[in-house]
Amino acid sequence: MELPFAESYKIKMVEPIRKSTREERERWIKKANYNLFNLNSNQVFIDLLTDSGTGAMSDRQWASMMLGDESYAGASSYYNLKQSIKNIFGFDYFLPTHQGRAAENVLFSALISEGDVVPGNTHFDTTKGHIEFRKATAIDCTIDEAFDTTIHHPFKGNIDLNKLESVFIQYTSDKIPCIIVTVTCNSSGGQPVSMENLREVYQLSKKYGIRVIFDSARFAENAYFIKTREEGYANKTIKEIVAEMYTYADGMTMSSKKDAIVNMGGFIALREEELFKKAAQFNIMYEGYITYGGMSGRDMNALAQGLDEGTEFNYLETRIKQVEYLGSKLKEFGVPVQEPFGGHAIFIDAKRFLPHLPVEQFVAQTLAIELYKEAGVRGVEIGTLLADRDPKTRENRYPKLELLRLAIPRRVYTNNHMDVIAVALKNVFDRREEITSGYRIVNEAPILRHFTVELAPCQEEMSY
Ligand code: F0G
Repeated sequence: MELPFAESYKIKMVEPIRKSTREERERWIKKANYNLFNLNSNQVFIDLLTDSGTGAMSDRQWASMMLGDESYAGASSYYNLKQSIKNIFGFDYFLPTHQGRAAENVLFSALISEGDVVPGNTHFDTTKGHIEFRKATAIDCTIDEAFDTTIHHPFKGNIDLNKLESVFIQYTSDKIPCIIVTVTCNSSGGQPVSMENLREVYQLSKKYGIRVIFDSARFAENAYFIKTREEGYANKTIKEIVAEMYTYADGMTMSSKKDAIVNMGGFIALREEELFKKAAQFNIMYEGYITYGGMSGRDMNALAQGLDEGTEFNYLETRIKQVEYLGSKLKEFGVPVQEPFGGHAIFIDAKRFLPHLPVEQFVAQTLAIELYKEAGVRGVEIGTLLADRDPKTRENRYPKLELLRLAIPRRVYTNNHMDVIAVALKNVFDRREEITSGYRIVNEAPILRHFTVELAPCQEEMSY
């Protein structure tokens, strides 16, 4: 008999989590103005809000923290991390930052001006926020297949080369400071970009003299999908695949809170010295001196170790198989999910789950609230709330997909937790007809509103 799959690690330290009653949860979510970001963590049983900074560090990472060098300038931890980035990605220049959006802020301060356009594959919300904040425009060039959750395509993060070239033709190269390729593409469902696409995008961009930057938060999960899905890569190591991926980039921004398995941290890495020098000035102003940039020495050590562990096949296999396990359970129960399953999360297609609700009532958010009430599971809306308003017209932007993201923290939960999540969603799915109305906005911020938005049920309003 073939041996079943098991995790490639064992557990050395545990943290209690709190169960609650439906009654408590109904009270708490109302008090939180129906925004799951407002819940206290002890009001949540299984927290799938994000896979960002929520992973469990290894014994080796914790051990490396003890060797952190906290010198203001020239710390050995900085050089340790610099070497690790050079080994894994091949870049000579690097700037530490406190997290991914800080890397965007610093790099875009050096790169992006008013009136610019930045094409890419569905930019993440902070990336888009940092582009729009500079009065520039993010243009989505993702392949159309990404926006139909029922289509099976192995690389739904791919960029449509025709869409990209038409942007290159429409705007002169001085208006396009860079293209941003997000690996894996979070906003389209944790979907990977193929090596072939990375290569073609790079070649096309070079033809037009445009810089290619990878938003790299989940670069290792992308490499895992290249290894397991793309012809010619099955026998290569993850590190070899990552090294090839980055020959098709001029630079990267990184949120280390994902695939580098640390709780806080980020960086920029670049090939060009001149751009590095320009960005370094902004780093000093916004983040800190260039050899720590918002990170302590111990955190840079843990990050260097995390980059090494995060690019090991056994770890990635354990991680992605857990996400698959949850996806398969949900599929068995008939719950509509984005396929193929994403690397870091399962995305529930809320429009197919609750087809009778109008999009104006925030369908994916409604589902997120129902799941929380059902079992204390906290997911996150990737839909109209996240898409924000159009910066010019101030109208709501209705994205093609209304998704509920269930992001799985790295090395944190067991498959028993996955079973609870799956059954909770099945229960909501079985009573979906009873969910007859959604939510309306009571209060919202002018940008990145989903973090702080206040909502009220539409039905309550009607009964007044
Ligand atoms: N790029 C991508 C693709 C991301 O998913 C994120 C963060 C960032 C950049 C920004 O990095 O949080 O370190 O500032 N994503 C988190 C998430 C928040 O939940 O998906 P950050």
